[in-house]
Amino acid sequence: MSDSANTDKTLTGRWDAALMGNYGTPSLEIVSGSGTRLTDSAGTTYTDLFSGIAVNSLGHAHPAIVGAVTEQVATLGHVSNIYIHPKTVELAERLGAALDVEAPVRAMFCNSGTEANEAAFKIARLTGRSRILAAERGFHGRTMGALSITGQPDKREPFEPMPAGAEFFPYGDIDGLRTVVESGDPRDVAAIVLEPIQGEAGVHTPPEGYLADVRALCDEYGILLVCDEVQTGIGRTGAMFASRHAGIVPDVITLAKGLGGGLPIGAVLGIGAAGELLRPGQHGSTFGGNPIAAAAALAVLDTIAAEHLDYHAYRLGRLMTADIEMLDHPLVTEVRGRGLLIGIALAEPVAAQIVEAARDAGFIVGTAGASVVRIAPPLIVSEDEIAAFLSALPGLLDGAASENTDTNDR
Ligand SMILES: Cc1ncc(COP(=O)(O)O)c(C=O)c1O
Repeated sequence: MSDSANTDKTLTGRWDAALMGNYGTPSLEIVSGSGTRLTDSAGTTYTDLFSGIAVNSLGHAHPAIVGAVTEQVATLGHVSNIYIHPKTVELAERLGAALDVEAPVRAMFCNSGTEANEAAFKIARLTGRSRILAAERGFHGRTMGALSITGQPDKREPFEPMPAGAEFFPYGDIDGLRTVVESGDPRDVAAIVLEPIQGEAGVHTPPEGYLADVRALCDEYGILLVCDEVQTGIGRTGAMFASRHAGIVPDVITLAKGLGGGLPIGAVLGIGAAGELLRPGQHGSTFGGNPIAAAAALAVLDTIAAEHLDYHAYRLGRLMTADIEMLDHPLVTEVRGRGLLIGIALAEPVAAQIVEAARDAGFIVGTAGASVVRIAPPLIVSEDEIAAFLSALPGLLDGAASENTDTNDR
């Protein structure tokens, strides 16, 4: 449609006319942010409890990120990986040190979560084995490799045929995983890919001991364990890496979202032999590990360490979970997750209505499927802000419950 044919000149009308339809039409026009506050085009402010889908770990316009990015862009914005840049090296070293393992850790930087998983997929291919096992319901991204290991058939089917090799196993069920591994040649399984907590699928935490059992199964057959920590990593669950809660060390960890605090950066970490598989020319990214994004990521890591934001996330997550459970609301069936990644599971598919009602009450929260409200605030969120949301929550749940009864009665 030409611009003259578009009669709706609002920002939303212009979005509809100028952007492809893959996101639908968002319901809010956000123009600025500061700390945990977001402001829309009408000047209304909201408390952000969703962080742009678990991204803005330090909130909006955090001085550490503004300072680091401003200084870096004024010094050197981009140089590509044909040259060495100190910030890229420092970030790789810092992520390796954060893992705190004896084995050497090597990083490869990219720009998003899906790209990090593409890199992990290619690393798995370089083992020479052909099978890649991924968890049912898991989400790993929208590019073809990451999509092929995403355990949500409705997302894959429109884009088939997928790259070959993916098989799916039931998440949280170690016997089910062993059955899939042993249904073919286990020595042909290159990698087992899973999220330590399944975020997009509805914030599902696996049973105690499960990740350690997966690690042991991988060791038994020489399989790479790939933990997708795109959503759970960088302090969100109360530890730098959620896999560490289970006391395991994966072979490969993928990161993005919270790492850049809002700047686009992804990373794949290879631990031990897995970090040695990519050879010159086998993978790359023009922008990956770009000095500006790396400077932002270093500011995120520094601030999390200096302000103990991982512990803060752990503590507030415990408080929030206990408070929501104590409500004992009939619409809430379970409170799941860890740290500041929380899913409120509902007895009815009314998550979208609750998100809308929360927005009208001044809070931005999200969904994870039709029946789960997802809370993933900036790690700097205060106890008072969480308390304010918790006092509004019973009203939001009551409203959604009665609205649903009305709709069912009609
Ligand atoms: C666990 C996980 N992996 C990968 C992705 C894809 O990340 P991106 O949207 O940055 O490509 C997501 C995004 O939600 C995710 O939650």
